[in-house]
Amino acid sequence: MKDLVVAITGASGAIYAVRLLEVLLAAGRNVHLTISPSATIVLERELGLRVDLDRFQRSQLLPSDSQLAEDSKLKMLRQGFGPVTDGSSVFSDDTVVPVTGKLIYHHVRDFMAGIASGSFLTGGMVICPCSMGTLASIATGQSDNLIERAADVHLKERRKLIVVPRETPLGSIQLENMKRLVDVGAIVLPAMPGFYHSPTSIHDLVDFIVGRICDQLGIEHSLFKRWGST
Ligand SMILES: Cc1cc2nc3c(=O)[nH]c(=O)nc-3n(C[C@H](O)[C@H](O)[C@H](O)COP(=O)(O)O)c2cc1C
Repeated sequence: MKDLVVAITGASGAIYAVRLLEVLLAAGRNVHLTISPSATIVLERELGLRVDLDRFQRSQLLPSDSQLAEDSKLKMLRQGFGPVTDGSSVFSDDTVVPVTGKLIYHHVRDFMAGIASGSFLTGGMVICPCSMGTLASIATGQSDNLIERAADVHLKERRKLIVVPRETPLGSIQLENMKRLVDVGAIVLPAMPGFYHSPTSIHDLVDFIVGRICDQLGIEHSLFKRWGST
C-alpha cells in the first residue's frame, strides 16, 4: 500500500480533516501531512486545537484519550465518533485493524519533502478542507507552497488528487477553477453531505464525507449506510 498525502487548508470544516486522518491511520495507511497557516486558525476556532506548524506534534491534531478527558471542547468533538485511535472500531463490522499507519508531518514551506517530487510515489492526495485560495492556486499551477506543489505533482503524474472545497455560494471564478481541476483529472468532492442515510448527528454528516473520500481512495469502510444496502 502506497503512502497517502493529506493537506489541510483554511476553509471551514476542520473536523473533516481530523476525522479523515483518524480513519486513514486506523486503516493502516501511512499519511504525509502538511497544513497551511490559515488552517491553524480554523483548527483553533472550530475545534479548539492549537497546532504549531514549526513544532508540530501528532497530539496537537489527534489528542489522546487522556487529553480529551481534560478538555471538554475536545471531548465534545469526539463524542459520537467511534474510537478509531486503537484501530478497532472505525469499521462498524467490528473488524479489528491491529496496525495503525504512521503520520509523517512536513512543514508547508519545506520543498525538500519527498511529496514535492514526482519521483516520490504515493497512492494519492487529499486536500481537506480545501479553501478557494488553494483551489485557485492549484488551478493556475502556482506551486507556491508544499500543498500547491504536491497537488501539482499529483496532477502531472496523473495520480489521484481529491479536493474537498467548502464555500457557499459559489461564484463563477470558483466554479471555473473547479471545472479546470476536473478537466485535468482531479476529483472535486465538495464538503456537501447527503441526508439520505438518515444522519442523526454532525458526526454522521462528517463520516459521510470522509467515507466518500475513502471510496475514491479505494479504502473499505462502513462509515455510513449505503443507498440500496439492507
Ligand atoms: C474561521 C475561518 C473560516 C474560513 N472559511 C473559509 C471557507 O469555508 N472557505 C474558504 O475558501 N475560505 C475560508 N476562509 C478563508 C481562508 O482561510 C483564506 O482565504 C486563506 O487565505 C486560505 O489560505 P490557505 O488556502 O493557504 O489555507 C476562512 C477563514 C477563517 C479564519
